[in-house]
Amino acid sequence: MGSVSYRVAVPGSLMLFGEHAVLQHQQAVVAAINYYLRVSLTTRFDRRINIISSSFKSCTTTLDNFKISKPYDYVLTAIQQWLPKIKQGFTLEIDSDFPSHIGFGSSAAVTVATLGVLNWWLLRQKPKPKQLYWQATSVVRLVQGLGSGADVAASVFGGVLMYKVQPLVIKRINKNLPLIAIYSGNKVKTIEVVAQVQRKQKKFPAIFDSLYRVIDCCAKEASRAIKNNQWSRVGELMNIHQGLHDALGVNNATLAELVFSLRSCADVYGAKISGAGLGDCVIGAVKRSGKKHKLLTKLFLKDKLDVAVSPSGIIYTEQR
Ligand code: MEV
Repeated sequence: MGSVSYRVAVPGSLMLFGEHAVLQHQQAVVAAINYYLRVSLTTRFDRRINIISSSFKSCTTTLDNFKISKPYDYVLTAIQQWLPKIKQGFTLEIDSDFPSHIGFGSSAAVTVATLGVLNWWLLRQKPKPKQLYWQATSVVRLVQGLGSGADVAASVFGGVLMYKVQPLVIKRINKNLPLIAIYSGNKVKTIEVVAQVQRKQKKFPAIFDSLYRVIDCCAKEASRAIKNNQWSRVGELMNIHQGLHDALGVNNATLAELVFSLRSCADVYGAKISGAGLGDCVIGAVKRSGKKHKLLTKLFLKDKLDVAVSPSGIIYTEQR
């Protein structure tokens, strides 16, 4: 028998509402976006595991002396979960529409994609979305030490999701939402930002408790507004949420400047940080005009990324 290939495409994601509070079991809203990461797995006739990527230097390990190393720690930890079932080597090729540092949920996406092809190959069937969600969330938590799993849910299920960790809620609220994202030029590791927020939380527990509850309120209001296609209300809620991000201590001068520049554009209903903060992206809810956003283009030139919601989550594209 010749070698066999499996290929999947997985959308990146943006947190819209509920960052940090989601780790305290509050509501969040997350969206799968139309920037995709693709992984293909091709079986080999030896016991090597080769990882080739468009963004990083390739890496090789073997089934008999399996090692986990950066920058492929999410991919290799996903593979490690399946090692007892793997009887032959394979090549994994990764390519992505977006760089890994811009806050589009690349760690979650690459984990979902790797587990998607492994399930497909080793069980000879595509996994149920919920199964894949649990597998990928546990890998992300193993590697990162924490993670709400909201980004994983978006990459698996697609669309705009209402999300809660406990009790688990993954509920699609819309397939659409006109957005813009601007990369701030900087990334601080999520785990470091979360640790900083949690240090402050220890100092001011009552205040942080209240902040998380207001963020929850914001996310719930935003879910209703998104369901009802009330984009200007979504924008206003983004502005309120941005104030709460500031209160959590995850805003900085660059992000604030981007947020205010975005808000100065007539096409923008509101703007906030997306993700853990202190870096990553700023997002805005934009008018669905179909026209080019002239002022936006002038202000942000190349850094502007028009983002649409990806209605689908993981897509299983081909098996030879
Ligand atoms: C990061 O995008 C959002 C956080 O809430 C962490 C998480 O949800 O895993 C800070």
